[in-house]
Amino acid sequence: MNQLLKRQKIGFLGAGNMAQAIIKGMLESGVTSSDNILASNRTPGKLQKLHDQYKIQTIDTNESLVENSDIVVLAVKPQDLLTAIEPIASSFTDDQIVISLAAGITNQTLQKYLPQVRLVRMMPNTPSIIGRGVIGYLPAENDEALSALMDDLCSPLGYTLKVEDEDQFEALMVSCSSGTGFVLEMMMYWQDWIVEHGFDEETAKRMTLETFMGASMLAAQSKDIPFEELQSRVTSKKGVTAAGLQSMRELEIERALRISFEKAAMRSKEISREIK
Ligand SMILES: NC(=O)c1ccc[n+]([C@@H]2O[C@H](COP(=O)([O-])OP(=O)(O)OC[C@H]3O[C@@H](n4cnc5c(N)ncnc54)[C@H](OP(=O)(O)O)[C@@H]3O)[C@@H](O)[C@H]2O)c1
Repeated sequence: MNQLLKRQKIGFLGAGNMAQAIIKGMLESGVTSSDNILASNRTPGKLQKLHDQYKIQTIDTNESLVENSDIVVLAVKPQDLLTAIEPIASSFTDDQIVISLAAGITNQTLQKYLPQVRLVRMMPNTPSIIGRGVIGYLPAENDEALSALMDDLCSPLGYTLKVEDEDQFEALMVSCSSGTGFVLEMMMYWQDWIVEHGFDEETAKRMTLETFMGASMLAAQSKDIPFEELQSRVTSKKGVTAAGLQSMRELEIERALRISFEKAAMRSKEISREIK
């Protein structure tokens, strides 16, 4: 356990899906213990559930949460974030670390509200719940100690990387956080096609899952071999796979996907403008 982390009180402002996923990951990995975790929420229901499940401390007000935490995780929806922190901005102190999960709110914008804190953006995706996430973080300032702490805090949730700027942060968000949704969309098409060919839903789901997991795990275990090379190993000239791939290329699946990625990135910028 990181020695610094072991002594820190981590307060979650907002106790929704992401807060719960991170709390679960941190406790199960032993990166911190339940007596170091605090949470506040707009309404009490989720707090009670978190307390019952993980024995964390629940706090009645956001202000009191900030006053009692060394690290504050801002885990409310982006549209609720500025309303939540504006009235309590002066309660934050200059030795506090603030981790923002909010999509679309840059460090620069947050620094206007909380200029005194050590600020870092963090972007997990939902597979973080099972320790298989991709988690990016971007500190507002160069801060080696903060980066080391983020590595320790996030690595139980999955593959963790520090990104260089807001552009990279957005690319990680689109490809890995929204990307999880995009991959699931493709899995739905796979499953539907299999069902149309006489398999029941459950079998089709399993076949789809095993195909996606199998391809991913094979690629993961052959990490020095490019995806292209692995693909060529299942593709014989003029064969069945080659015919399917040729059609995918003629139909410009890559272009369609790229446009979807760009649309998601544009929406992120739009949200950011709406919040400002
Ligand atoms: N879900 C994802 O895959 C994902 C991935 C990466 C990043 N994120 C980011 O994580 C953040 C949280 O997302 P989420 O999916 O966890 O949302 P969520 O499940 O809706 O949770 C947000 C929580 O914030 C609480 N809240 C709202 N206003 C508050 C206030 N003023 N004070 C205290 N609590 C307040 C809500 O309380 P109520 O119970 O009263 O509604 C709710 O429990 C967002 O900024 C999102 O961009 C999410």
